[in-house]
Amino acid sequence: NPVWRSVKSVSKVIAVIGAQWGDEGKGKIVDLLAERFEIVARYQGGHNAGHSVQVGDQSFVLHLLPSGIVHRGKTCVLGNGMVIDPKAFFVEADRLTQQGIEVSPERVKISSRAHLIFPYHRALDHTSEERLGNEKVGTTLRGIGPAYEDKAGRRGIRTADALVSDVLRSRIERNLEDANRIIEAYGGERLDADEIFKEMSVLTERLGPFIADTTHYLNVAATEGRSILLEGAQATLLDVDHGTYPFVTSSTTVAGGAIIGTGLAPNRLTGVLGIVRTYTTRVGEGPFPTEMLEGEAELGQMIRERGREYGASTGRPRRCGWFDAFATRYAAEINGFSSVALTKLDVLDTLDEIKVCIGYKLDGKMCESLPAVSQDLRRIEPVYATLPGWKSSTLGTTEINSLPANARRYIEFLSQQIGTEIGLVSTGPERMQTIIVQDSALGSWLRDSSVLI
Ligand code: IMP
Repeated sequence: NPVWRSVKSVSKVIAVIGAQWGDEGKGKIVDLLAERFEIVARYQGGHNAGHSVQVGDQSFVLHLLPSGIVHRGKTCVLGNGMVIDPKAFFVEADRLTQQGIEVSPERVKISSRAHLIFPYHRALDHTSEERLGNEKVGTTLRGIGPAYEDKAGRRGIRTADALVSDVLRSRIERNLEDANRIIEAYGGERLDADEIFKEMSVLTERLGPFIADTTHYLNVAATEGRSILLEGAQATLLDVDHGTYPFVTSSTTVAGGAIIGTGLAPNRLTGVLGIVRTYTTRVGEGPFPTEMLEGEAELGQMIRERGREYGASTGRPRRCGWFDAFATRYAAEINGFSSVALTKLDVLDTLDEIKVCIGYKLDGKMCESLPAVSQDLRRIEPVYATLPGWKSSTLGTTEINSLPANARRYIEFLSQQIGTEIGLVSTGPERMQTIIVQDSALGSWLRDSSVLI
């Protein structure tokens, strides 16, 4: 068996990870890279994600399916680390089909070990947020957290389990007993096990042909030298361990999660690409040290409009703030970025001055690393460096040397601060509105076809 003979990777396996609180523009970058990869896999999260991809005059919003789906001939994998709402899957698949995209079992493989989201998970997500009141997380209310709770509590129902009718029925009945107790205690309406069983058995039967052992599939593919792009959702600061806990999502969003959530062996990974915006945003609650508030609220609003900063999943306005190099350095440390893609440069085109947070001060002392406690993060005084703006349009620029000098200086400053090369700069929403730094690691991934070592 070739998988056991050689675990040394002969293929290009690159993970793409958001370095901030999400919405860094991963959709566009994964879409751009996907052309050069044979397989695109997601490894965590569910339809809480919202990736927008613009191809010519067609735009696609993806929640569950990897961005590779809009490229003909690519295989897409929904890995074991994901939580999948079958209803949401088919809504998305049907919409893409109408847009002329093939979503077939030949192209899309869902892990037999991925967990399913049930209607009671959505109800519990609502209840849990209500219970938290002022301390609520501001989740997407898609049932993501409760589904991961069931997974860790060993009550979860996986895609393959759901294909066995008796197992599906008995687990729904057992889980719903507990769920109903909580839902009712908080004034919600009892859910009916029979109804859920009927609805879910139709959906999971339709899901059946898509379900596969994706762990084996991916490891064999890597051994055969096929290139794999691992598409992260959410981002580093929303990671359940390393993010701004408890204001996080419930999965492992960082590079280590790409391994756990696909079953690829750790030494398969040949590169990690971090995605950062030229500024920072956050949806939902939680600390955000560089948020533009009070005196800067108008600026924040201007960036929100220019950057179209409204959630792709929920339509919620995103909170906007300055680039946080301190937090991004932390993300670079955890993920081991080989290269960074910087997105939305053009959004800052009109600013006179641009601030970058280079350090955190807490109780008058400089922090050496990111504070673990969210109450401390709320009290941070950011230490800023101020750089001159470039006051001219960078929209659609494709060459680094065609950028205004101050824009180049800004990019170099960010690269020094993060301690990682910037291999790509995005200058607009479309595929072509991109600068690729040819002598970067990212430039080489795009040049090589598949074999790295
Ligand atoms: P959940 O993932 O729905 O449980 O939400 C937990 C936190 O993660 C909330 O603050 C959400 O706003 C945030 N979140 C979840 N998915 C995304 C995403 O795709 N982009 C940005 N924030 C997200």
